[in-house]
Amino acid sequence: MTPARHLVLVGPMGAGKTSIGRCLAKLFGLPFVDSDHEVEQRTGATVPTIFECEGEAGFRARERETLATLLAGPAAVLATGGGAVLDAGTRRLLAANGFVVHLHADVPTLLERLARDRSRPLLAAGDREATLRRLASERDPLYAEVADLVFDTAHLAPAEAARQLASEL
Ligand code: S3P
Repeated sequence: MTPARHLVLVGPMGAGKTSIGRCLAKLFGLPFVDSDHEVEQRTGATVPTIFECEGEAGFRARERETLATLLAGPAAVLATGGGAVLDAGTRRLLAANGFVVHLHADVPTLLERLARDRSRPLLAAGDREATLRRLASERDPLYAEVADLVFDTAHLAPAEAARQLASEL
């Protein structure tokens, strides 16, 4: 199918929103946009720097404004940040303007994929496994609230995940 409007990917860090999103965009001939990257471009600062200077609340506000602009623009495959659904206004925007896919993966898979990552402020300190489990329990109901479809990305390379997901759309 060709999405009528935006194809929006939500889900935890490491679920594959960016890597699978790029492949999906190619399959559908749509532009790919990553909201973290857009926030960084608009702000002129990296996500960790925004968290450091403005806190998570400051980042969420920038994320909501950026997503609102992107969702008002031309149809795209849109990868959101893992915590975008925490904001009720963002959830309404996503549900109203896109076909929303929740990319899911179990915590051991996320941990393995994120093992060498140093770019996520929420994983910078403490026990990563405990953090990922806590985030999942807080956020899974919110992903479920906005999702039109859930897709499990564990055990799948991005290109294969995109092909299988595209066949379900
Ligand atoms: C976050 C996920 C990150 C990024 C920021 C916060 C989160 O995006 O938005 O570090 O709250 O889970 P990815 O899900 O693309 O890693």
